[in-house]
Amino acid sequence: MTLPDAPGVRVTPNALLRALNTFAVDATAPWLVEVDDAARLADVLASAPLRGTTPLVLGGGSNVLFVASPDVPVLRLTGRDVRIIDDAAGSALLYADAGMEWHALVMASLDLGLHGLENLALIPGTVGAAPIQNIGAYGVEVREHIEAVHVFECATGDALRLSTGECDFGYRDSLFKRVPGRYIVTGVEFRLSRNDAAPVLGYAGLVEELASAGVKAPRARDVANAVIAIRRRKLPDPAVLGNAGSFFKNPIVPTDIADALACMHPALPQFHAGDGLRKLPAAWLIDSLGFKGLREGDAGIAPSHALVLVNHGEATGRQLFDVAMRVARTVRDRYGVVLEPEPRLIGATWDIV
Ligand code: FAD
Ligand code: EPU
Repeated sequence: MTLPDAPGVRVTPNALLRALNTFAVDATAPWLVEVDDAARLADVLASAPLRGTTPLVLGGGSNVLFVASPDVPVLRLTGRDVRIIDDAAGSALLYADAGMEWHALVMASLDLGLHGLENLALIPGTVGAAPIQNIGAYGVEVREHIEAVHVFECATGDALRLSTGECDFGYRDSLFKRVPGRYIVTGVEFRLSRNDAAPVLGYAGLVEELASAGVKAPRARDVANAVIAIRRRKLPDPAVLGNAGSFFKNPIVPTDIADALACMHPALPQFHAGDGLRKLPAAWLIDSLGFKGLREGDAGIAPSHALVLVNHGEATGRQLFDVAMRVARTVRDRYGVVLEPEPRLIGATWDIV
């Protein structure tokens, strides 16, 4: 098959990726292949220019830092179908293609009278990327609502339907994130409730936001609106200031280490993270060292949030990586805590030791 002639498949040589990553850094892919229908994947992967390669799968590019240009083709799935595939009394199963924009899915689910995804409103990116790092915000992780993930297994060419258990989800983690290149996510099934009576409101600031909007008995859409308002205040808009949201994961440390840190730094917030473990806010650690608002050329840390690495315009991926490394090394030297990046790094490995 000659790919450029295939319907629903677009192939671009020497593709510029600046508009395809929310850091807005310059990078070039040897090829960009965009596929509307995931059922074509077997053919597409067996044909030039993808044949014999492990392509980099890209969604909205909101959780990736191009430290260097990729040396493999980039593959994007662009199908955006969404439909209810099972409607029971109290809940429904909603299927969405990988290429659908995540926030559009959240809004579509609310329009259908389905609840559960509202705390995850306004997270950038695509449905297909949501399971990769088990996106989470405001007290909810997407795994809580995933029934199954549809994947194309690259080694066998099989289309599989993986149960939530098989995905091995963790905090900002999954089987997919640990073994990139093994599966291409083609679609996701979400089990969503028709009962709008039990919103998740535990995350700091959410109740206050709803109260200040005059909402007394919040419904799912009120929660989405409150989350959107908080996010717009706290996080820079990538269309204005290049970023990938939180650049570091919040570190999870054993309780004895957390207790020792609490003795030395009583203001350091801590959160329970399972048996014998606590989660520490990386933003606090970084902020306390005075990095918020740091700027080195066009690379820096957001003035509004210490966890957000930003590109003020023309920073390269390497310059952003160097700022992140400097911040992480200082946190390690001061607190003995090793920060790990959340986005996928292309062309670099994270080794701060
Ligand atoms: P990409 O950046 O394109 O890809 C991310 C990773 O997923 C890469 O490894 C890529 O290879 C892989 N991937 C993408 N699509 C597929 C597929 N179909 N099959 C296999 N692998 C695939 N994240 C949160 O969890 N919570 C937040 O609150 C949050 N807030 C954010 C706020 C801002 C302003 C920004 C810029 C980012 C934020 N993020 C947040 C991070 C990001 O939005 C999510 O990780 C999102 O799911 C990434 O989607 P994407 O389509 O842009 O993925
Ligand atoms: N803080 C500071 N300085 C700051 C910002 C925050 O000290 O500049 C401290 C405060 O003590 C605050 C704490 O850090 O209470 C936590 O801050 P915030 O509530 O903003 O949450 P976060 O831990 O920085 C996490 C996720 C976000 C998610 C929000 C809301 C991670 C790595 N990040 O941020 O996800 O939107 O909670 O749930 O878990 C992302 O993954 O890209 C992302 C944006």
